Amino acid sequence: MDHIKNILLESDANQIRHIFHQAKDIKQNTLGHDVYLRGLVELSNICTKDCYYCGIRRSNTSVKRYLMAEDEIISSAMFAFEKGFGSIVLQSGERSDTKFLHLIETVVEKINYLTSRQLRITLSLGEQSKDTYQRWFDAGADRYLLRIETSNESLYNKIHPANHCYNERINCLTALKMIGYQVGTGVMIGLPYQTINDLVNDILFFKEMDIDMLGMGPFIEHSQTPLFGQPIDIVNSRLHLFELSLKMIAATRIVLPNINIAATTALQALDPLGREKGINAGANVIMPNISSPIYRKDYLLYEEKPCINDLADDCFDCVIKRIELTGEKVAMFSNGDSLNFVNRQRRKT
Ligand code: SAM
Ligand code: SF4
Ligand code: FES
Repeated sequence: MDHIKNILLESDANQIRHIFHQAKDIKQNTLGHDVYLRGLVELSNICTKDCYYCGIRRSNTSVKRYLMAEDEIISSAMFAFEKGFGSIVLQSGERSDTKFLHLIETVVEKINYLTSRQLRITLSLGEQSKDTYQRWFDAGADRYLLRIETSNESLYNKIHPANHCYNERINCLTALKMIGYQVGTGVMIGLPYQTINDLVNDILFFKEMDIDMLGMGPFIEHSQTPLFGQPIDIVNSRLHLFELSLKMIAATRIVLPNINIAATTALQALDPLGREKGINAGANVIMPNISSPIYRKDYLLYEEKPCINDLADDCFDCVIKRIELTGEKVAMFSNGDSLNFVNRQRRKT
């Protein structure tokens, strides 16, 4: 625990460089040089929740809402498949109405049929009932991403309305694991009221929950949300926030060598080379946006989100070059299952 805290508090530039090298070495020795691609499809910004940090929260009436059509979602998945991505992430605002549940089930079934189950499907669709998770798993979804956002329950309560429940999130993560998904979670770094001890506990939480995948990144304000302008004590500049986010990646890699860790887009919002630096600090996954530019500008979780005018092909070419800059290898046509998950499955048999 002290070791994690020391990493997060380190201020000497040479020492920080050394920590990033150490994390990247651990990643290479455990998982090799591969970096996996996940094609991100932001299929809808319609959301029934009202998280205080998120630009597409229900109460933000200035958002133009959209839902991609079934064939648009499937053609994005086929783009990823043909380009050799190995896996996709279907992400959206949270909805649990019958029409939405059915759309997801159908889309997952059709993508699996069209790709002969050669494309791993990750869902990132928020809190759902155990039955729904089971139904989507049976349709062929393999992985699920649900960030805990913060493992400090009282901080969780400060960044969500009273009807959003921390324990429900834990129950969802537990249910996903029991059903057999590869389970991903994550937190935001640099939240109002957050402390270094919270971040240390976040890493211990990932370990305790035996999670397989991690998507964490900096909190970036959105002016049409309640958290906008709230005092942030944990960092004193964007540069500091960026560096702390990289230190979180490195510290997590050192504690959990087997998991998949994404270098998230939010890193790139703070630094043009943000995702490359994430890879150099121990991450092994990049999630290029493959949604159509028609929709990208309406999926603004935070301001200054990168790539909102780019085509899927532009992001693909760009990401390949960026990964090559890190000296790592783009793992084409590889589904990149989490080693932590593979080991857990082995232990069960
Ligand atoms: N609705 C689903 C959910 O909440 O799990 C999936 C989509 S949600 C937009 C995906 C993630 O975006 C959230 O888990 C949250 O961590 C992140 N996010 C939202 N607003 C953000 C912000 N202002 N800065 C950084 N990340 C943000
Ligand atoms: Fe909705 Fe997810 Fe944004 Fe919360 S974080 S408001 S659930 S899209
Ligand atoms: Fe979208 Fe670089 S990743 S243009």
